[in-house]
Amino acid sequence: MEDGKAAVENKYAKFFPRKIMIVFGPPGAGKGTQCPKITDMLNIPQLSTGDMLRAAVADQTEIGKKAQGLMKAGKLVSDEIVVGIIADRIQADDCKHGFILDGFPRTLEQTKALDALLASRGECVNSVMALSVPDEILEERICGRWIHKKSGRSYHVKFAPPKSMETDSSGKPIPESMKDDETGEALMQRPDDTAKALVNRLKDYHKMTVPIMSHYKPHGIVKQVNANQKPDLVWSELESKL
Ligand code: AP5
Repeated sequence: MEDGKAAVENKYAKFFPRKIMIVFGPPGAGKGTQCPKITDMLNIPQLSTGDMLRAAVADQTEIGKKAQGLMKAGKLVSDEIVVGIIADRIQADDCKHGFILDGFPRTLEQTKALDALLASRGECVNSVMALSVPDEILEERICGRWIHKKSGRSYHVKFAPPKSMETDSSGKPIPESMKDDETGEALMQRPDDTAKALVNRLKDYHKMTVPIMSHYKPHGIVKQVNANQKPDLVWSELESKL
């Protein structure tokens, strides 16, 4: 038997559509930087397929073993794997009022699978925030990124250095000094954050991911955000368009 609170929530779920937002952009556009702010504002979770796959690699699950080599080389993991991950995740209790998709969908096949999945529940994507940054800016962003593995907090040697950062005589950061501001734990660099892997990531982005925009534009739900400005300014623009 449903208790009173659950019955009310189920009743409202029928009347209030979930907020289903895609945050779209090339590698290094700032999706991971901006999404937590959207989460704070709208109180819906950020679902990053990249973070989920990295967790699977760290745990060496079957999915993780299949994804590891592809990710390191900057290549896409199969549609079947990522669609399966998302299909399960969006049914979790914390998604009952909506969710933000970060890094998904990334191909037209994933887009169609997502639309079909949502349509089967009478739902659809209702917002796409497209972060745009020219390719030539992205290498510096990607190669200077350090992350705190547990929380996913992202730093940058030039644009968002951790408080602990020390540099050597040539101005390069000393790896041992790279610590998370909140926990003091060591930061790390992602194995795919190399100039070489970025070539593949950008190639796939333009060939496989950009066409998704033509799919959603006719729905009138796409908003463009200039992500080639300081992170605070990106947030101001994003916030004004939410
Ligand atoms: P994923 O983890 O999704 O990586 P990505 O899309 O390449 O995006 P990034 O995390 O690199 O960039 P971001 O936009 O979040 O940038 P951030 O905010 O950190 O995917 C990784 C891999 O997983 C894929 O290559 C693929 O193999 C696999 N995968 C994942 N999803 C998949 C799918 N759906 N299908 C198939 N395969 C999939 O910012 C970057 C840096 O710049 C940071 O250091 C930050 O501090 C800095 N920065 C941010 N904003 C600014 C700013 N405005 N100015 C200056 N610096 C800034």
